[in-house]
Amino acid sequence: MSSERINIEEFARSKVEEVKAKVGGGKALCALSGGVDSSVCAAIMSKAIGKNLTCIFVDTGLMRLNEADEVRRMFDGHFEANLIMVDAEARFLDKLSGVVDPESKRKIIGEEFIRVFEEEAGKIGSVDFLVQGTILPDIIESGVEGHALVKSHHNVGGLPDVIDFKEIIEPVRDLYKHEVRRLGVALGLPEAYVARQPFPGPGLSIRVIGEVTKEKLDTLRRCDYIFRDEVAKAGLAGDIWQYFAVLTDLRSVGAKNGVRTYGRTVALRAVNSVDAMTADWVRLPYDLVEKASARIVGEVENITRVVYDVTPKPPSTIEWE
Ligand code: XMP
Repeated sequence: MSSERINIEEFARSKVEEVKAKVGGGKALCALSGGVDSSVCAAIMSKAIGKNLTCIFVDTGLMRLNEADEVRRMFDGHFEANLIMVDAEARFLDKLSGVVDPESKRKIIGEEFIRVFEEEAGKIGSVDFLVQGTILPDIIESGVEGHALVKSHHNVGGLPDVIDFKEIIEPVRDLYKHEVRRLGVALGLPEAYVARQPFPGPGLSIRVIGEVTKEKLDTLRRCDYIFRDEVAKAGLAGDIWQYFAVLTDLRSVGAKNGVRTYGRTVALRAVNSVDAMTADWVRLPYDLVEKASARIVGEVENITRVVYDVTPKPPSTIEWE
């Protein structure tokens, strides 16, 4: 697809004006996930309505290592709006307890997000608008508007029927990911910020195959951090669309220090894509894969096997669930 599909400077200007006209003197709440989409939405909203925007970052306990701190650091200095950080780990893990089906995870998380926002909105007075970072592939893949369902992205198919807000605003719903990044730069966000890899709304819950527990999440966080660290050390961080670890539900036999183990298998995935609609697996240097694998089995206690995913999308999707 041509990067000229949309004149991004013009889009930025008219979107800010459109939002200003729509919200007027009202108040808006923006769900800040730490990802590019919601950050760019926050930038548009912040430019349009300043302090009448409150961003809420919900720490679901499903984030990557140190992510909540990084979000706060990135927010400070770039937005005029208010930021509220909510520690909701316990309630998300409670809701997810015993749930194995990926679509159920998405719906539960989407619904819990909305409940948290409603509660926070209640605390700050009347809020008229809820801002969401839905992008075009989310809508296409969620099977609405004439498209077949692939997976219901939590910010589309997972929305409950009754929401205590006047209206939902989705400033980037007509854009593909690469256009959202260009929009972010046009709005003055740092390149490094908008170049961050996409991170799904349901977070690590869809990268822990099967039931999600704190212990599995902690294990996954450490594997994922090591992989990302090795990609960064190899100088490839800016060149790969998405790269992450998946904690599979497969146990396999191994031996550590001469003792038989029956630990978990972690999968590494790295894909390149233009718009997330299709993707190809990245031919990572063997050296990098070797280092990541050796560190993961060496540093993360209950992992005995590391595999690398070599399937393109389609037929696979980028995420495993
Ligand atoms: P898939 O796995 O469908 O992913 O090939 C395409 C892109 O979307 C991200 N993704 C999600 N993002 N909510 C989101 O906000 C979701 O439920 C969700 N599922 C997948 C995925 O990380 C990739 O960038």
